[in-house]
Amino acid sequence: MNDFLAGKPARRAVLGTSLTAGTVAALTACGGGQEPAASPSAEAEATEATTTDKLPVGGRASVDLKGHNYLLYRPDETTVLAYSAVCTHEGCQVGVGSKVFQCPCHGSEFAFEDGARVAGPAKDPLPSYRAVIEGDKVLVYL
Ligand code: FES
Repeated sequence: MNDFLAGKPARRAVLGTSLTAGTVAALTACGGGQEPAASPSAEAEATEATTTDKLPVGGRASVDLKGHNYLLYRPDETTVLAYSAVCTHEGCQVGVGSKVFQCPCHGSEFAFEDGARVAGPAKDPLPSYRAVIEGDKVLVYL
């Protein structure tokens, strides 16, 4: 298990529900002020998000954990990245596009690889969470 580096996505990170590689999650409406759990901390606890068969290499997913939405991306066999799905512009729910995470409200886009803003009015990246693959489970620390 790798350590989470403050402000950077953890390698072997994860979250999960049920999307597969190439799947485009339906974009959802504004989150209405939904706030994700606090940023990763030493007290964060592992939450099973999905299983590796449901998040294959290259797969992206939008998952609901503890009442909040998170975004997952699995760039390789042993790495999973997890982000808050709350847009850093005005709080809408960010969804999974074919090449980037996309906010339907004003068009901000965020990179799968690090949550960085790549287009639109948002200035900040999506907050990242430590995530790991343990056996066939994808765990996110919330
Ligand atoms: S709330 Fe996401 S781009 Fe404005």
